[in-house]
Amino acid sequence: MDMQHQLQIAADHLKRAQRLVVLSGAGVSKESGIPTYRDAQEGMWQQYKPEDLATPAAFKKNPKLVWDWYAARRQAVTAVQPNRAHLAIAALQTLIPQVTVVTQNVDRLHTRAGSHDVIELHGSIMELKCFDDCQGDPTILDETSLGADRDGVPTCPHCGAFARPNVVWFTEYLSESKLERARDFCQACDVLLVVGTSGIVQPAASLPYYAKRWGSAFVIDVNPNDNEIATIADLALRGAAGDVMTAILALLTNT
Ligand code: OAD
Repeated sequence: MDMQHQLQIAADHLKRAQRLVVLSGAGVSKESGIPTYRDAQEGMWQQYKPEDLATPAAFKKNPKLVWDWYAARRQAVTAVQPNRAHLAIAALQTLIPQVTVVTQNVDRLHTRAGSHDVIELHGSIMELKCFDDCQGDPTILDETSLGADRDGVPTCPHCGAFARPNVVWFTEYLSESKLERARDFCQACDVLLVVGTSGIVQPAASLPYYAKRWGSAFVIDVNPNDNEIATIADLALRGAAGDVMTAILALLTNT
């Protein structure tokens, strides 16, 4: 089947959909200039070891190193713009009654593109929280009133523990309430559009199974490369997120 025919099938399903879930991963932000985690050569985990930077143990061992690395990433994310894929996904809100974006990305680009209902499964690099979550999980900190620096890292104004990015690190659990909400939306949706994820990190990777086995969603995988989602997808659109999402939007709006 040629690509144009496949895009038309995707558009036909989206035209009929009342409830859409978009599950996104690092690939959706690639065109904005943010590297993915696992792509050969340029993936983030090709350059840095997760155990050195993205675990609570790493932060305890060298808080300043981890803090500085996240500060640099945050600056990089702030400097870039949402791309065509983020914008097309946000535009779907005007065409489909209920659209929920479930993202593994911590960059906030879906929100900046205008998506209203975004579940940030892995948190957000744009927020800080108390390392000890002293006021409940998560204890989000107001950046204008952080405690004094210790070892070069700001502290929680309530308890004096280190401030840290509000992201889920390796060995940590996702927020149960976010996960439950994401599962509920996946079970209830008509179409699940999976964009730019390798589909190997749990529990996000299990969401397409919720949509398919417990629900009756049509699952569309948007990715230039073969990946784990392909085993369960009804349709695999092999192309970059910006190209594919722009083409789908054009079919939906007849432009
Ligand atoms: P990965 O780096 O594992 O996968 C990125 C996917 O994007 C791959 O399947 C690529 O083929 C695809 N891709 C590359 N360029 C693309 C493009 N232009 N358009 C669409 N897709 C493209 O990233 P994730 O699946 O998001 O977790 O990784 C999941 C989690 O692993 C991340 O959220 C992060 C990481 O460890 C935490 O930090 C908790």
